Amino acid sequence: MTPTPTPSTPSAPAWGFDPWSPEFVAHPYEVYAGLREHAPVTYYAPSDQWLVSRHADVSALLRDRRLGRTYLHRFSHEEFGRTAPPPEHEPFHTLNGNGLLDLEAPDHTRIRRLVSKAFTPRMVESLRPTVQRIAAELVDGLVADGGGDLIARVAEPLPVAVIAEMLGVPESDRHLLRPWSAGIVGMFELNPTAEAAERAVRASVEFSDYLRALIAERRRTPGDDLVSALIAAYDEGEKLSEQEMISTCVLLLNAGHEATVNTTGNGWWSLFRNPDQLAALRADPEGLLPTAIEELMRYDTPLQMFERWVLDDIEVAGVSIPRGAEVALLFGSANRDPERFADPDRLDLARTDNPHITFGAGIHFCLGAPLARLELTESFGALLRSAPELRVVREPSWQPGYVIRGLSELLVEV
Ligand code: HEM
Repeated sequence: MTPTPTPSTPSAPAWGFDPWSPEFVAHPYEVYAGLREHAPVTYYAPSDQWLVSRHADVSALLRDRRLGRTYLHRFSHEEFGRTAPPPEHEPFHTLNGNGLLDLEAPDHTRIRRLVSKAFTPRMVESLRPTVQRIAAELVDGLVADGGGDLIARVAEPLPVAVIAEMLGVPESDRHLLRPWSAGIVGMFELNPTAEAAERAVRASVEFSDYLRALIAERRRTPGDDLVSALIAAYDEGEKLSEQEMISTCVLLLNAGHEATVNTTGNGWWSLFRNPDQLAALRADPEGLLPTAIEELMRYDTPLQMFERWVLDDIEVAGVSIPRGAEVALLFGSANRDPERFADPDRLDLARTDNPHITFGAGIHFCLGAPLARLELTESFGALLRSAPELRVVREPSWQPGYVIRGLSELLVEV
């Protein structure tokens, strides 16, 4: 097989796209408008990627089997014209490469079928009382203190507690999850630094060791949790290697909280900046919450970009992209595309025609979407009810990093 050279197209103007600039990270949406209008599919040399910014194209590529989250199930690094990562990164790649998100059929189908059993609408609905109880406790604590950091007090502990409980991670260990997750997702930023890679590798080793021990423990003493259910499925002949089990549990623990934390923070910050919409929501929380949650996810998307590898030559909006190239699908831009959303820069909590792609599309469509929606509905609901005058104390700052979009803190008073 002949190696495919990386694209030699000269870098086009990026209309201000600069994922390493704090100004762009704070205000990406005006830049996206320029990209969508003037360069909807364009090669971006600094990250050696093709940026795709329109809703129709992002949506279509997510479903296109000529692209993959990884190329390794079809090609070696050399065959694909890419350099293998350094051997010391191996623990990170082994962990990632064996989780649902980086697998393809038939492995993806087999594992997704198994794990889906825990995320059916009925299973998720059965978690509602637990989610309500945890949300109420957290919000009551915040109210009793007269306010505090909404991220640390509510946004973060709720999804961490829920996903840890589902997997049977004891309460005393839950503080470990967030730093491990942060270490691992640092590698999903564009051109991660050597320090970020080192942190990701260390987190991968520690998290994998932790899960290996937890699986061994549940094998001895099964519980009413997802890890025990996966072990039982394995014992009943479903083929799930120990590495796949570890990788899938880590993925669930990470994906199960990271974006939900940021959606909560970004969502409240959007509401504080749009007082008319916040007032409307306070006036009719039950009526408006279902569309409001979807709109908040669209308006300030917690995962701004997902990457795909081009496995066969493709053409997108008249632009040819060769096999071997990497495509950056700009979710944050697609969700503000005027071709698809009426008045896209307006936060409209009553919006009903809202096909946002915040949960992705195609075979990797977010498995936890029903759970995320439940958690968001209950935490926003509890805050609206118990803190009817919640207000922001000062303008928050954004976490460094472009792909994962979230606030460092959000100080509020009740
Ligand atoms: C996949 C977003 C919450 C579990 C995905 C993908 C997106 C996404 C965009 C697809 C990525 C791609 O195609 O490359 C979100 C957002 C969330 C959220 C915005 C919160 C607001 C959750 C929760 C869970 C979860 C609560 C719970 C376990 C997963 C899993 C996958 C996934 C397992 C991989 C599915 C597969 O590859 O088949 N998520 N997610 N997510 N998500 Fe979520």
